[in-house]
Amino acid sequence: MMQERRDDPPRLIEVAFPLKQASLDSVHEKNVRHGHISTLHIWPARRPLAACRAALIATLLPDPGNDAERRQLLEKLGGVVKAKDTFKNVDGRKVPVLQEHTDGGILHWGREDSADLEFFRLEIKKAFGGRAPRVLDPFAGGGAIPLEAMRLGCEVTAIDINPVAWFILKCTLEYPQRLAGQTRPLPSFAVESPEFMKRFLKSAGKGTKAQPRGKEEAAQSRMFEVPESDLSGHVRAWGHWVLERARNDLERFYPTVEGKPTVAYLWARTVTCKNCRATLPLLKTLWLCRKDNKRYRLDIKRRPDKSGVDFDVVAEPVVGGNAAQRRAHDRRVGQGTMSRSGAWCPVCGGPNTVAMTRDDIQADMKEQHASGRVGSQMTAVVVQGQRGKEYRPPMPEEIRAAHDAVAEIEDVFKEVPFGLPEEQIQIDAKGSTWCVRYGFDQWYKLFTPRQLVALGTFVKHTRAAREAMQAEGYSPEWVEALSAYLACTLERLASYSSTLCLWVLKEFIGQTFTRFALPITWDFAEVNPLGNTTGNFAGAIDWVALYIAHALACVDRSPRPETLQQSATEKVRGLFEIVLTDPPYYDAIPYSDTMDFFHVWLRRTLHGLSPEIDETFRQPIGPKWDHERNDGELIDDACRFGGDNDRSRAAYEDGIFRAFRSCHDALTPEGRMVVAFANKQPEAWETLVSSIIRAGFVVAASWPIQTERTMRMRAHESAALSSSVWLVCRKRAETARPGWNTQVLEEMRSRIYDRLRTFWDAGIRGPDFVWAATGPALEAYSKHPVVKKADEPNAVLTVSEFLHAVRRIVVDYVVGRVLSQDGESTEAEALDNPTIYYLLHRHDFGLAEAPVGACILYAQSCSLRDRDLVDRYDLLAYGKSRAAAEEQLEDAGESSEEETATSGSTMRLKRWEQRRRRDSGLPVSSRRATLIDQIHCIMHLWKDGDAQRVDTYLEQQGLRRKPVFPNVMQALIELARKDNQADEVSLLESIMNHISARGVHPQMRLMHTDDVSGEEAEDG
Ligand SMILES: C[S@@+](CC[C@H](N)C(=O)[O-])C[C@H]1O[C@@H](n2cnc3c(N)ncnc32)[C@H](O)[C@@H]1O
Repeated sequence: MMQERRDDPPRLIEVAFPLKQASLDSVHEKNVRHGHISTLHIWPARRPLAACRAALIATLLPDPGNDAERRQLLEKLGGVVKAKDTFKNVDGRKVPVLQEHTDGGILHWGREDSADLEFFRLEIKKAFGGRAPRVLDPFAGGGAIPLEAMRLGCEVTAIDINPVAWFILKCTLEYPQRLAGQTRPLPSFAVESPEFMKRFLKSAGKGTKAQPRGKEEAAQSRMFEVPESDLSGHVRAWGHWVLERARNDLERFYPTVEGKPTVAYLWARTVTCKNCRATLPLLKTLWLCRKDNKRYRLDIKRRPDKSGVDFDVVAEPVVGGNAAQRRAHDRRVGQGTMSRSGAWCPVCGGPNTVAMTRDDIQADMKEQHASGRVGSQMTAVVVQGQRGKEYRPPMPEEIRAAHDAVAEIEDVFKEVPFGLPEEQIQIDAKGSTWCVRYGFDQWYKLFTPRQLVALGTFVKHTRAAREAMQAEGYSPEWVEALSAYLACTLERLASYSSTLCLWVLKEFIGQTFTRFALPITWDFAEVNPLGNTTGNFAGAIDWVALYIAHALACVDRSPRPETLQQSATEKVRGLFEIVLTDPPYYDAIPYSDTMDFFHVWLRRTLHGLSPEIDETFRQPIGPKWDHERNDGELIDDACRFGGDNDRSRAAYEDGIFRAFRSCHDALTPEGRMVVAFANKQPEAWETLVSSIIRAGFVVAASWPIQTERTMRMRAHESAALSSSVWLVCRKRAETARPGWNTQVLEEMRSRIYDRLRTFWDAGIRGPDFVWAATGPALEAYSKHPVVKKADEPNAVLTVSEFLHAVRRIVVDYVVGRVLSQDGESTEAEALDNPTIYYLLHRHDFGLAEAPVGACILYAQSCSLRDRDLVDRYDLLAYGKSRAAAEEQLEDAGESSEEETATSGSTMRLKRWEQRRRRDSGLPVSSRRATLIDQIHCIMHLWKDGDAQRVDTYLEQQGLRRKPVFPNVMQALIELARKDNQADEVSLLESIMNHISARGVHPQMRLMHTDDVSGEEAEDG
């Protein structure tokens, strides 16, 4: 625990945190939609509001100083954790699971406006002498942190370098705060439109918790009194205005056939078959819909003239067999023309042949772009029938309508500032925008001609709405806010209107950014923007209006926020009590390269709205790196440094350091900085911690909050852990002096056990236990500007070396718990590293799949590499997640081989009988046996019925003289029991009985000096 200064008592977060509650409610929040910040505008890596709220409150409030009050405060904040038995569907089977949830507190979505929030607002004010504390977020992105700070009544400054993020911040924070509490009569065109009023009244009360019964009638009666509304109602009204004008212009491009409204058109990109010159449609899957009770797929029909194929829609019945057989059947009948190696031609070839390799397809598509004749074929149309969505082949007039749009593009974009979005799509070193490789290298190329006409038309009318608002007497403040929200609506539409949008087999359209990349899609779905289902303009208005309604109620009591588009490395005006931020993380997310998608549309839509907006969007795309100023977007992307990885990494690390330095300057002497890091590779994490310390901070605490659903797509393909670690820092005294390694390590050791016990008793386990211990341990190190090595002149103890020592203590502590059946023991110190790893991993994850990030962390803590645990020690195997991810992507209609080809993201411990080298515990083995090898070897010998060889082996290996041996055996029995491995339990027990029956129970023996332990055992 941090040392207390009289004038600067510890904050709650430096002592305790409602970790489980914040994690549960953060994960839950991913499922909520109505009114949530994420529905206003897409921004990558938005932190959950629950986590931000918990971190802010716990940082703003002092620790009460005693257990009882602290417990009470934590409960008021996070509520209590409850569990209920429920079932999960796994491969068609119902598997029982225990589901935890919170009860009470103010973190859960929907409880943020409970009476207790007011309690916290008042307490926060009290803690700051009756005024609103000032909070800075220099990497504010989509605005989760500043929004929560405003909810708590703080004075907020939110900064981001990206103009799109800056614009989102204005819409998230600034406009609602300015216009909260204001209402005005709805414009007459809205009140006079029965269609609008119906929709408007239906929406009344939506997104707020208390929905009065019979709300429609109640609202209707209000309507006849005064048709007044707040900002959200006016956004609905002007959204309707734009939609009606766009409908007039666009309706002819979306013909309704047989009275059934069109939901979407499904397309396949085409190439020319190298062998037979037929038009070859590229399809990842033939499935159109695959639900338990509804299954349709495309049927390919070769044209008699062999020029290409046509499509039919057929119902596909469920076949018998077990789950695996059914899956295999579905894969076979749904197999599209695309495979990992290329495409087969339905005219001259068959499935499992390759007519066009990936390279051929790339070359063909590039040629298409160069000649301006980009190939695609409509495969099916989704329409809204009486009983749900229906699928049918396209009608000639539908195909014609799509082609008619080509002639309109030029005219439409004549009226749009900056014309067609011809700006280049940037390529990063990771290849996140790999559509470029196929010739999709300018933004407009990501849209069909009809999508361009539609978006251009919506831009035109959104812009025209401004003048109409002025004519209706709206003030400039209202006009700006309303126009900005209409632009958000258009952005939502754009996100659902590119050729990267896929038809999801659960019957909805996926948006462009299902992950933050620009992949190549083979087949895609084109939404009807005038329709009534997901992705259309009317729905977009609803989502935007719902957020505004939420925001108006939550930021109404905070002072006016400041939103700045600048680099976090720059000096910020004023002093702040709290910096709470979530910086970009090396090359994890290509923010500006992907978000330029929105930049190009916003720049066109907003142009002329205000001098500030024009100035911010003066460049055609978002800022990258300015070599002259040595500043820009902080991302480790070698493409911005002529392919030089070292320069790129150094620029990122230096930039992050300068940003932390700037935060240091912006903080009051008693201020706190809390930094959330997505926790990936321990080495990279250590570099960031070093920057924080170098910038003048003492790290006092760290809390790993689970903020992501573990099954999200990206998590499968990268080594991303499901948690982010929130580091709590305070300013180091100017007078702090260099420390000495011996002293610092001693101080860390003397303090850490106390924290470890507290965390253990609080039920923190697994990698979280390691991360939670890291912060308090770092305090001993970071309170010195530098820590020198006493025994090596001029050498310093690096953060990495220090953290290694910390993690080793933490790991030994956990393994000590395992060996002593939850007591405390120092026996782990006598074990070799791979055995420690085995016990730790087995204790935390059993034989199930474990996140690779956790395995790397544990391996490093045991001075091992994860790869060695696979290859050299044969203890770990890569998990199944790759296969699972591929299946999941296929289900979603994904076509991203490039991504799934990366390594799996889980690992699992091998069972003793699965280890491939049966002899690894024998003296003939090429490396010295570890204890876990020896035990597994004994198990093999025993299973073979060779008691004599077991005895000889025990003697030869000196195991009877090893005091820790019986405890490891006992621990393995318990772990196997926990994993329901009855055979393993009985095998280990019979070996133990055999050893005891020989009357030479190892525990009775004195410890021998020739025991093999630690490094010695492995390296031999
Ligand atoms: C992890 S995100 C922040 C997400 C945010 N906490 C949220 O909830 O949406 C990091 C942000 O840093 C921004 N960024 C990158 N370089 C920057 C710089 N030099 N100055 C300010 N912001 C920068 C990116 O644009 C991105 O929005």
